[in-house]
Amino acid sequence: MTDSEKEQKYKQLVKEAAALLDGENDLIANMANLAALIHETMGFWWTGFYIVRSDSKDAEQLVLGPFQGPIACTRIALGRGVCGTSWQRRETIVVPDVEKFPGHIACSSESRSEIVVPVFTGNKVSAVLDIDSRYLNTFDETDARYLEQIVKLLK
Ligand code: SME
Repeated sequence: MTDSEKEQKYKQLVKEAAALLDGENDLIANMANLAALIHETMGFWWTGFYIVRSDSKDAEQLVLGPFQGPIACTRIALGRGVCGTSWQRRETIVVPDVEKFPGHIACSSESRSEIVVPVFTGNKVSAVLDIDSRYLNTFDETDARYLEQIVKLLK
């Protein structure tokens, strides 16, 4: 896929995502449909959300939410793996080669590159969108820019 084809695909995806979420305010339903839409449209290996949740001792962790793809790790601590690092730094992280990311959590040995985008509720990171690819160097600033737009549709 060329850069301009990717750009076109994402422009269409943003429109479809907005239409899909219009009129529905249930977070889990919207995350589930967004994961499916992104996954099917872009042909990724794993697409899903981890949601910030408190355990019985009131400690926060990322817990697996709606996703498409193979089974995955259920809990990730703050600062751990790509997801926990994105949550801690409050920013999108693009990983061209997962083997070169210190502390990367390998839920699937097929995964070669990854992007994680934080979802904000007000000023707080409330979840992250995690996407894995079976190929190296799948993600760049274009993915980051459009996926950040898409997660802003979650209210
Ligand atoms: N690789 C992620 C863990 C989640 S799975 O990829 C679905 C990480 O390092 O945080």
